[in-house]
Amino acid sequence: MIEELCKRNPSLIRLQNSRVPMLPNKVRAPRNRTITLSEEERSFYQQTLRQVHQPVELAEIVNQTIHQDILTFLQWMPTQSVDLLFLDPPYNLTKTFNDRTFKRQTLDAYAEWLDTYLTKLEPILKVTASIYLCANWQSSPAVFDVVKQRFQVRNRITWEREKGRGAAKNWKNASEDIWFCTVSDTYTFNVEAVKLKRKVMAPYTMNGNPKDWGFTEDGNVRLTHPSNLWTDLTIPFWSMPENTDHPTQKPEKLVAKIILASSKVGDVVFDPFLGSGTTSVVAKKLGRQYIGVELDELYCCLAEKRLALADADPCIQGYADGVFWERNSLHAQPRSTKQWSAHPTSHGTIATNHQTD
Ligand SMILES: C[S@@+](CC[C@H](N)C(=O)[O-])C[C@H]1O[C@@H](n2cnc3c(N)ncnc32)[C@H](O)[C@@H]1O
Repeated sequence: MIEELCKRNPSLIRLQNSRVPMLPNKVRAPRNRTITLSEEERSFYQQTLRQVHQPVELAEIVNQTIHQDILTFLQWMPTQSVDLLFLDPPYNLTKTFNDRTFKRQTLDAYAEWLDTYLTKLEPILKVTASIYLCANWQSSPAVFDVVKQRFQVRNRITWEREKGRGAAKNWKNASEDIWFCTVSDTYTFNVEAVKLKRKVMAPYTMNGNPKDWGFTEDGNVRLTHPSNLWTDLTIPFWSMPENTDHPTQKPEKLVAKIILASSKVGDVVFDPFLGSGTTSVVAKKLGRQYIGVELDELYCCLAEKRLALADADPCIQGYADGVFWERNSLHAQPRSTKQWSAHPTSHGTIATNHQTD
């Protein structure tokens, strides 16, 4: 199957002599919380993965991790079944995902490559669906060219991606884009669910009363409308409980904003490039149904382990009391939410954690 796939998609190259694809066994510091897999766990989670080779009902594939090439899977996926599509494809960079390397192409070739996937993804979307498509600054223009042909482009979110290499003769790249699109003019957008909690530096009063802010035991705070510039995110790193060895793992907090804004409890959230499982994990924590497809078996197993861990520990770092907290605000957050806890909200049972932010 893989050889066939590489023939069809020359930009995807399987590394030679790697019969047992595995992430290297690293020595880790005692406080390192990176999620890893033992051989036993890997064998166990392999049994839980699905592949689909004939038409299926939606009920048969929800809340599952599918280990398959997305184009093969999409032949069998029921049409008009998805409420929210989160697309985090390989960017147009030469990058290795476990034992396969995605090769950088011209921007035109990348746009054509991406469009092959969107052609097959379009029929599975409900008419009310939203689509979020991730890109770096180089591939973002190609992504816009492709999505504007098919969907209503609503916005381009830019998020501060703190980690990244410095450059001697260029500005360090510290941002990525996410294109927000919808199929039609009828779509879900729960703005109240994605407000940001900020400490008020200059509390303005009117007739002695706070204007647009409130007193809390931890200081004066304001709930602000979310903009298309996201600066409150942290890329998963070794001491965070969501961290894995996947090279391009997205923060749970980022995906939580998207899922809370653009879906309802019980909706179907679909990720065709699942990677380490972030979208499925956050969808599960927020009471949505999920379907995730990933080509690499090891990443699928990691996703399954994260999904199992989410049962015991349904917290989303940086999201507490139904609001998103700005980065490095631990000192300002309510004491009651500094410990792991789950509490019901109007959006379902929401998990919170503020041990670090
Ligand atoms: C940018 S990563 C996604 C990372 C993910 N958002 C996370 O948080 O871990 C893209 C993933 O797409 C997978 N992939 C690439 N081509 C694929 C295909 N044809 N079908 C399914 N998955 C594919 C890669 O193995 C890689 O893990």
